[in-house]
Formats: sequence, structure tokens, C-alpha cells
Amino acid sequence: MPPVESHELRRGKYSKIDAPAEDETDTPSRLSFDSNASSYEDLDEFDPLNYDAGTLKQKRSTGDLRARRKASFKDAELGAKSPKRRRCAPTKMCCGLVLLFVAATVLLLSAGGIWAWRSAPEDGQSPPFYPTPKGGSDAKWVESYKKAAELVKQMTLVEKVNITTGTGWSMQMCVGNTGPVPRLKFPALCLQDGPLGIRFADNITAFPAGITVGATWNKELMYRRGKAHGKEARLKGIHILLGPAMGPLGRMPAGGRNWEGFGTDPVLQGVAAAQTIKGIQDEGVMATAKHYVLNEQEHFRQAWEWGTPNAISSNIDDRTTHEIYAWPFAESVRAGVASIMCSYNQVNNSYACQNSKLLNGILKDELGFQGFVQSDWLAQRSGVASALAGLDMTMPGDGLKWADGESLWGPALTKAVLNGSVPIERLNDMVTRVVAAWYQLGQDNTERWPLQPPDGDGGPNFSSWTHEEIGLLHPGSDDKTTGVVNKFINVQGEGNDFHGQIVRQVAAEGTVLLKNDDHILPLDRNGWTQDEKQGKDMKYRVGIFGEDARVNADGMNACPDRGCNMGTLASGWGSGAVDNPYLIEPVSAIREAFNNESVYVTDWLKNVLPNERKELLEDQDICIVFANADAGEGYIKWGGVYGDRNDLYLQKNGDKLIRDVAKDCGAGKGKVIVVIHTVGPVVLEKWIDLPNIKAVLFANLPGQESGNSLVDILFGDVNPSGHLPYTIAKKEDDYGPGSKIMYLPKNLVPQQNFTEGLYIDYRYFDKNNIAPRYEFGFGLSYTVFHLSSIIVTPHVNKSPLPAPRRSGVKPPTYPTEIPDPKSALFPPDFRKLSKYIYPYISSTDDIGKHEDQTLLIQSPLSQAGGAQGGNPDLYTTVLTVSASVTNIGLVDGDAVVQLYVSFPQDYKDEETGKPVDFPIRVLRGFEKVHVEAQKQGLVPGVNGGGNKQLVKFELTRKDLSYWDVRRQNWVMPTTGEFTISVGFSSRDLPLQDKW
Ligand code: BGC
Ligand code: BGC
Repeated sequence: MPPVESHELRRGKYSKIDAPAEDETDTPSRLSFDSNASSYEDLDEFDPLNYDAGTLKQKRSTGDLRARRKASFKDAELGAKSPKRRRCAPTKMCCGLVLLFVAATVLLLSAGGIWAWRSAPEDGQSPPFYPTPKGGSDAKWVESYKKAAELVKQMTLVEKVNITTGTGWSMQMCVGNTGPVPRLKFPALCLQDGPLGIRFADNITAFPAGITVGATWNKELMYRRGKAHGKEARLKGIHILLGPAMGPLGRMPAGGRNWEGFGTDPVLQGVAAAQTIKGIQDEGVMATAKHYVLNEQEHFRQAWEWGTPNAISSNIDDRTTHEIYAWPFAESVRAGVASIMCSYNQVNNSYACQNSKLLNGILKDELGFQGFVQSDWLAQRSGVASALAGLDMTMPGDGLKWADGESLWGPALTKAVLNGSVPIERLNDMVTRVVAAWYQLGQDNTERWPLQPPDGDGGPNFSSWTHEEIGLLHPGSDDKTTGVVNKFINVQGEGNDFHGQIVRQVAAEGTVLLKNDDHILPLDRNGWTQDEKQGKDMKYRVGIFGEDARVNADGMNACPDRGCNMGTLASGWGSGAVDNPYLIEPVSAIREAFNNESVYVTDWLKNVLPNERKELLEDQDICIVFANADAGEGYIKWGGVYGDRNDLYLQKNGDKLIRDVAKDCGAGKGKVIVVIHTVGPVVLEKWIDLPNIKAVLFANLPGQESGNSLVDILFGDVNPSGHLPYTIAKKEDDYGPGSKIMYLPKNLVPQQNFTEGLYIDYRYFDKNNIAPRYEFGFGLSYTVFHLSSIIVTPHVNKSPLPAPRRSGVKPPTYPTEIPDPKSALFPPDFRKLSKYIYPYISSTDDIGKHEDQTLLIQSPLSQAGGAQGGNPDLYTTVLTVSASVTNIGLVDGDAVVQLYVSFPQDYKDEETGKPVDFPIRVLRGFEKVHVEAQKQGLVPGVNGGGNKQLVKFELTRKDLSYWDVRRQNWVMPTTGEFTISVGFSSRDLPLQDKW
């Protein structure tokens, strides 16, 4: 069997050869499209009939089917090469040199191939799943699919293609724009980043980042933030919001984009994603669950971006995929998400956007996804293969290189349908999925979504490309037409609906109190507490230290896409950042909060203390010191950080600053409060145990209300209720070998093996008995909560498998004749803009005939499927768990009650008798409840004192099952006992019961 990597090498070569060159008149510019051998990698590598699901390993078959397929691929490869050879004919010398070059290249590449073959990782090969399950099989989408089919039936081939393909980078107002069908009043769709606000737009809200939202553990707040975000999108004319992000999930704590998502646990990510999606979509805007999947680091995420000809491959086993990384996507689909973005990386050596197992198999069959799959920007790496593997929309439309205007779809897709290499049924399904999603969200309502010009003034009312009112309409092309592009619509909400209030609440609730010795917090606005004040007639002195306490001196939006760590950190960088409309700086907010009659505030807003630092520090009663750690998307590099962090320490000398402040604050007697803004976990060991460091606040990434939300916590207006959405280790190595970013490729196709499987973050610490500094789920409060009375109520008996898959409704069908190629030609006298992507072809001369290879395959449907999110029986409530939480402290507060499940110990699979390994415990539910403090005069246990709330959890069949690779289904252990634990963190679990 040819090694997988040798295909990758071929593909690298082919993509170069095939990259369409304008001047090669004898090579049809899109020949590569229907003859690119690499396009068929999935087919070529795997035999579905012999797929051993357990290990994702492939056995070879010599069956007829395979032989037939093999033969035709060979032909296809030759087809692609021959025109090139012909061009050398004129001189023998040229041919000789070229042959030598080719021979040398082949040798080099095959040497790489041999190397790769010898080291092919166990999970380095992705199985096939064909054909693409059609959208329209779920009862909840029936009406939308009916309407969509009516419309799509009237569309011509080019009109259909127009909907699937972006018009090219910066060709219209948004970061992604599809082509419209004006004849049928189907609009050009606007796709805009991103997960924490509206990118490249004015008068919008800079919400707290996903990681801060995760740290709130507040479902209602997650929903409200999503809703406000969705409303802003709608009012700006955005159809499809490019968020929420739930991948990266956080396998590697230094991962550059972890902060865009909600934390390193599939259940936390899944709940937060679903709540966000419901919020966004309740405003009629399509949400996008991204990045599907396993794009866990920035280095090598994309071909060429990091110098390697191919993107990194995340090599992973089937069970871990299901139980960890695909889980939040399943929750997103269950929440009805309209779109999913496939990621840049490869998974098991097949690009995520052409990986049929991931798209056709898991997403569309098993999870019953009814919306459309869009590519991340340039994550599409092939034309036919991606279409057959289940991609529905290519973004931003360009081809293999940024803004090249040479789409892998557009005219090439038109041609591929005409010559039969992409069945017209597949194209119909792509378009129907997009149009159905549009109906599903009610975007056909012209009151809410006015028609676009020339019929109305709908569409995006802002430009991603200029802040001016008048600007170019197609800035990516040679067209100089201008018009009003920015209408400066204020979408931030007003009065009670002012979105800044949600920002402030999320940021405050997402601030985690890690340490609070001697109850130093909350502070008093008057400085001294009554006791401390005794006999002192001077002002209370507060020193504020560190650059992170102030706004960047060059301006809050000085670096494009927030691509630098300057001043206070309110978000990470990249496409997931926005322009702040304003940014409340911590130092000003704190100054304002103190009573200046009795408090004197000094500040030093740099990370290097002055020479007279002793004088500055020794006068303080308390010192508040700020430090941070930043990261972001890999296309921006700042301060030696290439997207992913280089280590887990504070940046810009933060650790030293904290130590120095602690040393001299109040001549060693001052009390120190540390505030940290960060994209993820930070190692605190250089100072955390210093005795005068009394309090530590992890404020994550707060967004525009930074200072205000911090003040809310510092002074106790809001009782801290944030809990860590990840583990803080004592040292980076404690996260385990799998947690390390691959900074250097060892290989032409960097191979990253997820050998730790299920054991990431707290699961790894628990398994290996490593003491973290602060565990996953940890967070303090100004009050004390007590848990009691766990009750576990089963609703059904244990049984291994969910009910058999139900058949869904019937997707729409269409006539399958291939239209006359002439109907796809550019209309006469058509004015083409340079690099703008049209669906038309220029000539019908080279339309050949091809056979779609995937028509020969029908992969078996999954028993785990049957509705959005999977087999509905997986979501049957199996157990109800309740417990009481009592506030035994002095102030009201919000308790985050967490439920963890431990699967039966020493369990053996009932069919095979083989032991199944389980993490010590896994998070399966959480609730945030407000509990008032006990009222005066009441004594707990005597006359009812101590305020109590009941917390309830529902555990589903899926929560109590593992993914069995052999049965390809979720299996519930029926022997042994589950342990259900309830508590306040992954290591503080006072209540337990068995089932
Ligand atoms: C990012 C996506 C983003 C897209 C559009 C990509 O590079 O990975 O998250 O939505 O660009 O800006
Ligand atoms: C764009 C981003 C995109 C990135 C991809 C940037 O130039 O602004 O939207 O995510 O390139 O590499």
C-alpha cells in the first residue's frame, strides 16, 4: 500500500503544477480540477469494505471495485501531466534538463515518502465515507427545505454555483461574500467574523472573549451575549456570523487561539457553544461553529503559511475524536447551528475540508447536520475532492493562494458538474443546504432583511476595508467604482439594552478569584476598614503597577486585529478580535472607585520599575499589580510570539514585576493584589506563594468594559463566581507530552499524534496524580457555600445501546440531467472585474466526460445518527441528580455547582471482554445558582437559617456512554457502578453517589 505521505508529497507537487497559470494556453487552466489525482486521496487510500473502525487502520483489498478505481486514477494522473511534457518538445536540451530536474525531484520526494511510510502514525490515515448525505432529512428543517427546493429548482447551473463560491477576498463588503441570484431575489450572503464581536466594523461592541464566557459557567449569560452579538450582526446586514469557536479546544495550553473558545473540556465548550448559537440564531443570524476540527495549534496550520508545502496533520483515534473534539460540534448541531467551518489542518492526513469521514461521515450522517459546511479562508485544498467529501461553500472563494482569484470552485465547479466529475446531485445538495439555512433563519423576511440593490437597500451597511463613508465597491479588483460603503449604524443597544452592560457582567462573572488570603478582598472604597483605621490619621495609600493597567499609549486599536501586546489586554489577536469602540482602562476605573478624601492612589504604569522604586513602593498600604500573556492567530507575529505562545509565563517581564512589587510594597508589609489578563493558563510559581501576595484575580480577556468589571469584583459589588475553564499547572510539563506545541516540523507534512487520547487537561492530571496549582473548575467567592443531600434518580434501566436509528424525512430531489454547457458561458459583453470570481466558463471546448468514482460507494449509515446531534435516544434523560447548596457565609453569591461522572472501574466491554479505559472523572454538567446569605437572627439547622437552593442535573444516555470504535456507537456500561460526584471544582467534590 502506498504510504499516505507520498500522496501528500504528490499533492504538494501537483498543486504547484496544477496551480493555474494564465499563460499556459495548452493546459486548460482547470484541467487540474478534474484530473488532480490527489483529489481522490480518500478513495485511493482506503477500501470502505475493509475498514477496521477500531484503529482506523486500513486493510488492502484486491476486489474488482478497487482495481477499477485504481486504473482510472492512473489515467487521471497522466492526463494532468502530459500537456506539461509536450511543452518541452522543441529542444532536446530543455527536455534533458527538465527530465533531470524531474528525476531529482522524484527521488527527493520519494525519499521523503519512504521516510514517511516508515514512520506513518497509527492514526495517520483517514477512512472514506461517501456519498454526502443529503440535507433535508430532519423534521425540524422540513419547511425550510421545501421552500429551498422550490427556489433551487428554478436555478440555472451558474446560479447554483454562484451560491457555493465566495466572490474573492475583499471583493465585497464582508470578509466572505457569496454570489447572489438576483433573478430569484436570493441575496449575496455576507459572512463576517467573529466570535467576540463584529470585526472591521464601527459602532459595535467588543464583547469578552470565549474563554471569559467559559469562565462564567453561566448558561443564561452565554445566551444573552450570543443574542446581543447576533442582533449587532443583523443590524449591520450580516447573514452569517463566523462564530462561536469551539476548536481549538485547548489540548495545548499555549495554543494561539484557545481564547476564542470556551475552555478545555468538551462539555463546557459544548454548552457554551450551544447557548451562544441559540442566542445568535434567535436574532435571525446564522451562526458558524468553527473550526471543525482538531486545529489545535497555529504553527503549520496552513499550507505554505509556515513554509511547509502542506498543513499539519492531527492524527487521532476515533474514540477521542468523538468523546472530546467532535463533542462540542455535536452540541452545536443539536442546537440547530446553520453553518460549520472546516479547519485549515489535516486530520489523519486528509485536509479537514476534504476529509469525507469528518464531513460526510461524522457531521452529515452521524450528527445529522442540516446546514452547510464552509471552508476556513483558503482551507479548501482541492476542487472535486472537497465537493465529494461534503464541503458546501468555499471561502473567500480564491484558490490555493491568498486573493489569487483562481477559485477551485466557481467556474471550475461549473465545469466539474458539466463533465460529470461532481454529480449534479451533489451541487444541488450544496445549494439547497445554503438556501434552506437562509429560510430556516427567516432571512427571506424582507422587513428584517430588506432586498439588496437594485431592488432595495439591504445587505451589509459597513465595509471591512475602509473607515470612510465613501469607498470602493470591489476593492480587491481593478474596478474603481465607489459608493456609500459605511453607514455608521450604531448597533450597541441603548438604555437597558445597552450591550456594554452584558460585557461588564460577563467580564465580572468571568473573573476568577484564585487566592484571597486574610479576606483581603473585597476592598473598601474608603480605604481603611474601621479596624485598620484606628489611630491613623493619614490617607490609605494604594499603588497601581504595570502596563496592563492602562490603555495602549498609541491608542486602544493601534495594532491591526489587536496584533500586539501593548497596554491592557482585553482580547487576543487575529480574525477573532474587533476594534474597541471604547476601552475602560483598569487604572482609571480603580482611581475613580476609591474615595479620594480618604485614599491616595499612585501609579507606575510600566513593567520596569524606576530606580527610585523603593521610595515608590515602600509608602503603599496595598499594591495592585497587573501583568498579562497574549497570543492569537498565526498570520500575525508579535514580540517573538508566532500565534502560539512560546511558554506559559507572563509576558513582558510580568513575573519579575510582580516579585519586585511584592518585595518592596509597604517596605515588605504592604499587601499585594495581582490582576492577570490572559489568553490561557499561566504558570504562577515564581511568586504565588510569597506571603504578602494576598489576592490573585484571573480576569481573562474582559472586552471593552475591562476596568469597570474589575472594579465590580475588587470592591465586592459583584461577588466573584468565575471558575477556571482549564487547569493551572505548577509547570508546563505537568500538562503532559501531548500538550506541547510543535514549533518545528520534522517532516514535509508535520505529523502531530494525539497519543494522549482522552487525557488532556484535568483528565491527564487526575490520571497521573499530578497536583495542579489550581485545578479545572476552581474559583473562590467572598462567601462560603456548602453542598448536601445528593439524590440520584434513574429513569430507565441500564442498556448498552441507544434505540435503533430512526429513518428521517425524505430530502428534496431534483432532475439529474446535466444542462447544456453553453448555458454556462459568460453572457455576451460581460464586464469582468479582475480576480472577481464568477461561476461562468469561457469556453465549452474542453468539457470532457468523467465518471464520478464515489457513485460506486455507499458507506453504511451510522446507528449513532438519526437527528440533529445524533440518535435522539442519546439525549434521553437517564438520570436526574439533585443536590442542595447553602450559603453559609455573610454575603449573597453565585455558586457554580459541577457534576462529574466516573465510569465503572475495571469495566470490560461486554461483547469483546476487553477492558475499556476511562478517565478518573469527566465533567457532565454544571449550574450556576444565586444563593442569598443567611438572614440575621436565623440559626442554621435550628430555625431554618442559611439560605438554600436546589440544583438539578439531567444526565443523558450519551453522558453515560463511551464511543465504542468496534460497534461504532455510544455504549453504556451495564456492569459495574457509575460514581456521580457533585462539587465546586474537579477536585473539590464533597458529594458522591453510585448508580
Ligand atoms: C480564520 C477564521 C476566520 C476567517 C475569516 C481565518 O483565517 O481562521 O477563524 O473566520 O479567517 O476571517
Ligand atoms: C485576514 C484574516 C485571515 C488571515 C488568514 C488575514 O489577512 O485578515 O481574516 O484570517 O489572513 O491567514
